[in-house]
Amino acid sequence: MNSALVKSKTAIVRAPAKINLCFDILGLRPDGFHDIETIFQAISLEDELKIHLQEASTNEIEIKVEEAFIRKLIPLDGTNLIARAFHLFLRHIGSKCKYKAVVELDKRIPIGAGLAGGSTDAAAVLIALNEMLGQKLSLVELLELGAQLGSDVPFCILGGTALGRGRGEVLERIDRKLDLSLCIVKPLKLAVSTPWAFKTYDESVANQDAAHRPYLSLAAVRQGLENSDLEMTLSGLGNVFQPVIFGAHPELKKLHDDLLSQGVFACHMTGSGPTLFAITPGREMGHYIRRHMLLDDEIGFYYGTEEVIREAHPPIDFRLAETVSYGPRLISLEEH
Ligand code: C5P
Repeated sequence: MNSALVKSKTAIVRAPAKINLCFDILGLRPDGFHDIETIFQAISLEDELKIHLQEASTNEIEIKVEEAFIRKLIPLDGTNLIARAFHLFLRHIGSKCKYKAVVELDKRIPIGAGLAGGSTDAAAVLIALNEMLGQKLSLVELLELGAQLGSDVPFCILGGTALGRGRGEVLERIDRKLDLSLCIVKPLKLAVSTPWAFKTYDESVANQDAAHRPYLSLAAVRQGLENSDLEMTLSGLGNVFQPVIFGAHPELKKLHDDLLSQGVFACHMTGSGPTLFAITPGREMGHYIRRHMLLDDEIGFYYGTEEVIREAHPPIDFRLAETVSYGPRLISLEEH
């Protein structure tokens, strides 16, 4: 395939985070992954990537992040999913030309949070390069490339709402009619490693802690979303990781109970955690809860409009978001 790049191009792409409205683990597979069943939902919390691309003598990528505290939290070398997506895409199209990419990453999605922040950045890079190089890879091809990068990447490419099976990469779109207003909350300094979460879950099953397995129904959630039936949706929400992660981090259980006591419709953990999502009647209530949960020693550190990082006990990261029906989207594409 030929790659059609004129001099250089700059694209701006926005990449939404995801939550898992429902999360079930069916079992361990021979390849070390777990078969899961989940309902993925894209939300309005987004990273922004500005991608500059120009022809070069070798394929290389530089990832820039302005905020020093974020640079400490994520690798910016070849192990970053953005870099892996860049090299995978160029290898896949068999491009004769070589490219240098400079990616300016505005990281707004909390890191190590179970919100697929890294995966959605990778999805954004695949989608943007496909446009910038005029490749016209089909959605199916992009999804296959995504699956090579991580279990959540295919959903991040698809966006919207979907049922996920296999290790998360086998997807079926859900035609969601119900919009949800959300508080996205996590202890600021708590990150959970996904492999650790799966291992700890396996140990709890081996120790027959399965009695703590929460009730959930993907069928009810799906039916509720498709029929704009809030009660039905709420009745099926659940995450089998939740008791395990709450057991290891009692402060997370407390945060969950605090949110529930604010009168939200429901509160659950997303993916392997530790982020919690609370469903509220509307953004007004989300604002109210955020204000109410702020303590006097709030450090009032804002970036963006909807984000508050505060000094509480323990400090929490509290965002407001809504369900959205898209994945990464190109905001602009310029040729120089
Ligand atoms: O696919 P991804 O790179 O996100 O997975 C990270 C790790 O999470 C895997 O190496 C595996 O330990 C675990 N995992 C799993 N089953 C899944 C997804 C992830 O065991 N369905």
